[in-house]
Amino acid sequence: MTKLRAAITGVQGYVPEYVLSNKELETMVDTTDEWITTRTGIKERRILKGENQGTSVLGTQAVKGLLEKTNTKPEEIDLLICATTTPDMMFPATANLIANNVGAVNAFSYDLQAACSGFLYALTTGSQFIETGKYKKVVIVGADKMSSIIDYSDRTTCIIFGDGGGAVMLEPTEEEVGIMDAKLQSDGSGAPHLHMKAGGSRKPASEDTVKNGEHYVYQEGSAVFKFAVTNMADVAAAVMERNKLSGEDVAYLVPHQANKRIIDATARRMNVGEEKVMLNIHRYGNTTSGTIPLCLWDYESQLKKGDNLILAAFGGGFTWGAVWVKWAYDPK
Ligand code: UT7
Repeated sequence: MTKLRAAITGVQGYVPEYVLSNKELETMVDTTDEWITTRTGIKERRILKGENQGTSVLGTQAVKGLLEKTNTKPEEIDLLICATTTPDMMFPATANLIANNVGAVNAFSYDLQAACSGFLYALTTGSQFIETGKYKKVVIVGADKMSSIIDYSDRTTCIIFGDGGGAVMLEPTEEEVGIMDAKLQSDGSGAPHLHMKAGGSRKPASEDTVKNGEHYVYQEGSAVFKFAVTNMADVAAAVMERNKLSGEDVAYLVPHQANKRIIDATARRMNVGEEKVMLNIHRYGNTTSGTIPLCLWDYESQLKKGDNLILAAFGGGFTWGAVWVKWAYDPK
């Protein structure tokens, strides 16, 4: 029997309108455009403004565009998974809200939380449903409203993050394209270096947690940096090695956009030139679960059927992973 694979048959991104530039950040905290640019590669990021605007707004816009682009009726969707670290609410799942907003009445839907590796975890999970043969259209969303958990008086974190998201459609194929291999890893001993202290069951919200700023991202930047550089490069190299892929075979590295220096180190390790690295960190910063689908969306018109892509990410948890994708379609 021919093996079924999950092919990405469309991608769509969404970023909110408001642009928060390095220049504006200079007026908010003790920083400079020069420091941010040289240490991270970021020039600006997008912020979702307005009352009652959660991550589902980002996901809904991305999925609506995806359905239009792929000529899909919402009721055809079998499953919608949303990778996010900033759900609209503790429950219900943001995926449920998105599915309802787009009219995906026949889909079951749930959230998946793996911080910055969330999209890769969700993509891999979604591909397994397709491979069973039972599910024909699976939508994978990666979206985060990071501005909702950022302290805009902390210069070490507020310069990095932004809001945005994207979505891909997965469908079965018998061709040699699609999600070819994935290696996902996690290590909970990394939690002290990158987390949010309160708002969960261990420390529910209280007057004190708000006063102490415990509902914001806590990050020990240089410790996370060291783990990220090593692990993202190692896992990307491992996926290439076990599939006998050289740097030349790879059309694009699609890295999580956390820091340009981490991306450069990964590309060097993979022996991939900078012209083959998808990059949009300068425009959107780190959108957590949104970075990789936003990259695919930005570069979609340059991708050809059969192109080998290595998607790689590292994030809180710690979580990290790499996915080998053979692109399934030519520019439309
Ligand atoms: O996406 C999920 C995973 N997250 C990551 O992968 C992030 C990994 N970490 C990083 O990207 C980097 O560690 C940061 C961008 C967060 C920080 O860059 P760094 O080069 O590691 O800086 P540092 O934390 O070692 O700080 C160096 C100096 C410090 O000053 P002193 O102590 O040397 O006087 C900081 O106070 O830079 C200072 N600094 C700043 N200066 C101007 C920190 N943030 C800023 C800032 N503007 N925004």
